[in-house]
Amino acid sequence: MLSEQVQARINRELKKYPADQKQSAVMSALRFVQDEKGWIATEDMTDIALYLGMPQMAVYEVATFYHMYNLKPMGRHTLTVCTNLSCQLGGANETVDYLKKKLGIGLGEATADGKFGLLEGECMGACVDAPLFTISNKKMCGRLTPEKIDQILTELDQS
Ligand code: FES
Repeated sequence: MLSEQVQARINRELKKYPADQKQSAVMSALRFVQDEKGWIATEDMTDIALYLGMPQMAVYEVATFYHMYNLKPMGRHTLTVCTNLSCQLGGANETVDYLKKKLGIGLGEATADGKFGLLEGECMGACVDAPLFTISNKKMCGRLTPEKIDQILTELDQS
C-alpha cells in the first residue's frame, strides 16, 4: 500500500491533470515511491496502478522504459556514473573503478548497510564536467577526482 506521504504527493500532482487523465501522474508516482524507498517493487507498481486507475502493465512499461527508476533495492544514496563516450574520455572508467574499490561493490549493487548504490548511466548532457555522477537522480557532481569523491562520500555518509 502506498504510504500517506506518497499518496499526498500524488494527490498534489493529480491537480495538474483532468480528472479522467489520472494516469498522467504515473511517472511522478513512480518517482515518489523511489524517493521514499530508494527503489520500486512490483507491488508498488500494482499499488500505483490501483491508485491511478490504470492497467498494472502500463505502469510496468513506464517503469522499465526509463533507466532512472530502480527496480531492485539500491542504496539510500545511489551514485549513477555517466559512462558514455565523452565521459569515458574524461576518466569515467577510472571513476567507476575508484568507486567500486572504495564502496566494495560492483555496478548495479548496493552496500550491505544500504547506504550506497552504484549504477552506470547514459549521457546526462553535462559532458564538459566529466567525469561525473548523480546522487539519487537529484544532484550532479562533476569534475570528479579521488579527493572530491572521498569528500562527497564522507558528507553523504554523515547525512
Ligand atoms: S557523456 Fe557523460 S554527460 Fe555526456
